[in-house]
Amino acid sequence: MASDKSFYLTTPIYYVNDAPHIGHAYTTVAGDVLTRWHRQRGESVWYLTGTDEHGQKVLNTAQSNNVLPQQWCDKLVESSWKPVWKDLNIANDDFIRTTEKRHTERVQKFLQGLKDAGHIYAGKFEGPYCIGCEEFKLPGDLDEGKCKIHSKPVEMLSEDNWFFKLSAFRQPLLDYYKSNPGACQPESARNEVISFLEGEVRDLSISRSTFDWGIPVPWDTDQVIYVWFDALLNYATAVGLGDDPASEGGKKFAKTWPADVHLVGKDILRFHAVIWPAMLMAANVPVPKKIFAHGWLLVGGEKMSKSKLTGIAPGDITKDFGVDAFRYYFLKAIPFGSDGSFSWEDMAARYTSELANDFGNLASRLIAMIEKYCDGKIPKVAKDNDLASLLVKTVKSADDAICALDFQGGINAIMDFCKRVNGYVTEKEPWVVAKDPSRKNELDEILYNTAESLRALAVLLHPVMPEVTEKLWQSLGAASLGDIGNQRVDQVSNWGQLLAQSTVTKTDVLFPRLEEAK
Ligand code: MSP
Repeated sequence: MASDKSFYLTTPIYYVNDAPHIGHAYTTVAGDVLTRWHRQRGESVWYLTGTDEHGQKVLNTAQSNNVLPQQWCDKLVESSWKPVWKDLNIANDDFIRTTEKRHTERVQKFLQGLKDAGHIYAGKFEGPYCIGCEEFKLPGDLDEGKCKIHSKPVEMLSEDNWFFKLSAFRQPLLDYYKSNPGACQPESARNEVISFLEGEVRDLSISRSTFDWGIPVPWDTDQVIYVWFDALLNYATAVGLGDDPASEGGKKFAKTWPADVHLVGKDILRFHAVIWPAMLMAANVPVPKKIFAHGWLLVGGEKMSKSKLTGIAPGDITKDFGVDAFRYYFLKAIPFGSDGSFSWEDMAARYTSELANDFGNLASRLIAMIEKYCDGKIPKVAKDNDLASLLVKTVKSADDAICALDFQGGINAIMDFCKRVNGYVTEKEPWVVAKDPSRKNELDEILYNTAESLRALAVLLHPVMPEVTEKLWQSLGAASLGDIGNQRVDQVSNWGQLLAQSTVTKTDVLFPRLEEAK
């Protein structure tokens, strides 16, 4: 990367009406893998996640639990959201809450700027509203009076509100997406946005007057800012939007903005690909470089959700499979951008064949053989040209795929290399070679090549599975090469890094056998 601009990636900020489920974790893990990968490319990285705390949905939940909304949010953030991200090894650089002053003040300043520039006017909103989506709906968005996403009846609103002239940005947005294919991905998402923009785009009500859980409209404090208008701004307020360029916030903004990727689920694509860039265009702030919409995790063929009682908490899965397998599974099994069904059977099958057998066993066999045949010391450096050149290709494919958010393609490339290394060990039969002392040199070469391949696998899989790869790193005696997180993607295929004579150590099994009865 030429400038000192950080690679800036965001997740949606999650509603704190409930605890995280695996749909939320899916996005946050994907973002974590991508940012860890970019860090290992040697880039400066900024990874933001957070919580969306205003609006009717959160207010209603707090009220039905008989607590004030702020108390509700504080409790959920501290006792559910942050701990789950910690448990899943999410290495976010910042966590924004929309009730924080750094956010609310910058939102008000931004809105005032739009008002002063003539993008806001007073109007009346009449129509359906889905509290689940926190969205003003059009009649076509409904199915027998119910929101198509939440299958719940909508509210009929009739309010005097403030409006944003969204319609004025229809053509500029259309031109933008037509000439920047990378700005909205995957292709299906881009097509959806283009066809939406080719239809009628109405101005957007950006305030609510019937409840007060929100950021007050600065010039009309009887109204609070519409929760999506408030929430979308988090991506920019968290890094200093609108601050004096000479201040800390201003410098942070210059270093991070525009965001490189906003990761979103496909249900919230339009907010991000239409409303958000229009808000920024109106304020003369550069638009994000890419919106990437991933698919849904389905349970029983439907979007998994707490409100439909199909919600699964990450802990339900990690208690049996561990955190690393959880992180690996969803990105490996489902093409990023498509929907995918979750099933315990598929998860268990992949855990056993891909992680425990292909990867975990390779590591434990190698360590056991080095202990047995080489006194626990890495033998002298050797180079199998086929493995070494396959590794070069693997790194290139994995890097291209992951940078394009094709996690499945990237992980496939790495796991194919793992399979090849298994094939190498099977063909070379080190346990047979070991029986003949005159073939000691050959044995050492086989073991070095295998160990060196495992070094590369540990580094390449580290963004996906930080915990087991760290264990493997220690076990291979690779700590002298530095922390695993500091190993660079562009150097991983330099063959011969493991030092001869470093000591390997047996560790716990990387992927323990699953209990029979679940
Ligand atoms: N608060 C808004 C986002 C504001 S961003 C400025 C919101 N929150 S949410 O908690 O309802 O959902 C957050 C994300 O979780 C969305 O991207 C949504 O797609 C994702 N998921 C919720 N259920 C999901 C699945 N079943 N599968 C995959 N992702 C899902 O929307």
